[in-house]
Amino acid sequence: MLKSEERIQIAHYYASVKVVPSVADGSQVPRGKELFSKLCARCHGEQAHGNELYPRLAGQKVPYLKTSVTRYRDRSGERNNQLMSIATATLKNEDITAIANYLTQLP
Ligand code: HEC
Repeated sequence: MLKSEERIQIAHYYASVKVVPSVADGSQVPRGKELFSKLCARCHGEQAHGNELYPRLAGQKVPYLKTSVTRYRDRSGERNNQLMSIATATLKNEDITAIANYLTQLP
């Protein structure tokens, strides 16, 4: 329903909102960082800030990150993206928890 000008206005609004990092389970962060650097950073960026092709992950909430990554991995139908299903295929639930805790505390 949106006109293209409205889409641009919405994009500008979201881009202007300041990301507030959340407090993470600190015991998860080192493992999450290691996994993220190895499996995710080449697309989402070292700082997880994303770019014109890949979404920002830094500062997103743990429950949302866990749900989204699990849906890509399990190919359960709510989240369909071939690149993401491949990137997450080898992750165990504990790995997803660790990555989510790492990402949520990033500025
Ligand atoms: C080959 C590139 C690539 C790699 C590697 C990759 N991603 Fe992604 N990721 C994407 C793309 C493209 C999207 C947007 C997909 C869509 O439209 O659903 C995405 C979306 C996401 C989202 C949803 C973000 C949102 O706000 O909706 C999460 C969470 C995510 N990726 C986490 C990860 C994690 C964790 C890893 C490492 C295990 C990873 N990604 C590795 C390309 C990649």
